[in-house]
Amino acid sequence: MNHQCNAVDYEQFIPRETGFIFKFEKVGNTFIHTFIEGKLIEKVGLCPEFVVGKSLFEFLPPEQAQRKEIFYEKAWNGEHVNYEGSFGGIQYLAILNPVYHNGVTVEVIGTTIDITKEKVREKQVQQMEKLSVVGELAAGIAHEIRNPLTSMKGFAKIVKESVTDEKLIPYLEIMLDEMERINQIVNEFMFIAKPNENIRFQFTNINKLLSECIQFMGPQANLKSIKVEFDSEAQISLSCDRNQIKQVLINILQNAIEATEDNGHFIGVSLEEASADSVIITVSDKGCGISESRFNRLFEPFYSTKEKGTGLGLLTCKRIIDLHQGSIDIESRLGEGTTIKIVLPRNRNAESILIAE
Ligand SMILES: Nc1ncnc2c1ncn2[C@@H]1O[C@H](COP(=O)(O)OP(=O)(O)O)[C@@H](O)[C@H]1O
Ligand SMILES: [Mg+2]
Repeated sequence: MNHQCNAVDYEQFIPRETGFIFKFEKVGNTFIHTFIEGKLIEKVGLCPEFVVGKSLFEFLPPEQAQRKEIFYEKAWNGEHVNYEGSFGGIQYLAILNPVYHNGVTVEVIGTTIDITKEKVREKQVQQMEKLSVVGELAAGIAHEIRNPLTSMKGFAKIVKESVTDEKLIPYLEIMLDEMERINQIVNEFMFIAKPNENIRFQFTNINKLLSECIQFMGPQANLKSIKVEFDSEAQISLSCDRNQIKQVLINILQNAIEATEDNGHFIGVSLEEASADSVIITVSDKGCGISESRFNRLFEPFYSTKEKGTGLGLLTCKRIIDLHQGSIDIESRLGEGTTIKIVLPRNRNAESILIAE
């Protein structure tokens, strides 16, 4: 059996739908591709003409070509090599199999399969694991931190009020601010661990609730001369946990204000009926926007681009909206602004109401 025949047999087993096959030979010191075929080639933005008859360095950036050349060399020396890579947004797994003739490598057959979906799933699982660890930590430790913190705060306040040396006051103020910050992190932490512990659904006028949130954030918006405008076509009421939905709106408005420059821009809040059984709350800002690379990390715990951020705000929102069986969707353009849409169902399914109420 010659190596050509071998290769044809091998090709029959390749999942063409999800990958591609390629072959290369060593000519002098260079690996030259002799064949490539499969659906994935187009997806990664290559075409056979770019590859066949060419070396790695002729169609890949130098660092990528160098990295692959090491694997090619190993395969040429007789090893079966597996490696993962990414190209044109596609993550793939490549397997290199040397083909021998009379004990000498005559070519290497590579098969590549698309593992983008698996990688995304793997990341989600990792994130869930991270969350459950955060949850356990929160349940165990946060509570323990809160009690001593409360007494520290109380005493620091007393000391601040009765201190006679004026020079000490700024230090005490910093202490109080920082303790407040710990308190905030601990509270968010605990909520993420057990969001449905104190959930209480009540029939609520959402227009009123949104107005209250906007009013609450007013002073912070005023500081940057930002106007928050509320627009709604109808009076809408539905059953929700008022405090939790307020928390969501406050977190989102806070992010919108933080993202907007001091220039009197508007932040728009709107409320509309999406269908007979759901409503949409939209918050849009003309702030800094979110780059594509940051976009996928927004709901990760502790992911923050701010010096004083906790990176728990959006995750808390997601937890609350999930509990309400709604959804949260973010659209953003770097430098142009961000729009956050929250869809809330009017009627949650009965089973979850039972659990939650
Ligand atoms: N409206 C927005 N505009 C731009 N970036 C945003 C916006 N909302 C959220 N982000 C980005 O998402 C990150 C995570 O937000 P969040 O979970 O609320 O944590 P934090 O506000 O503490 O940083 C922010 O640090 C920011 O980079
Ligand atoms: Mg935030």
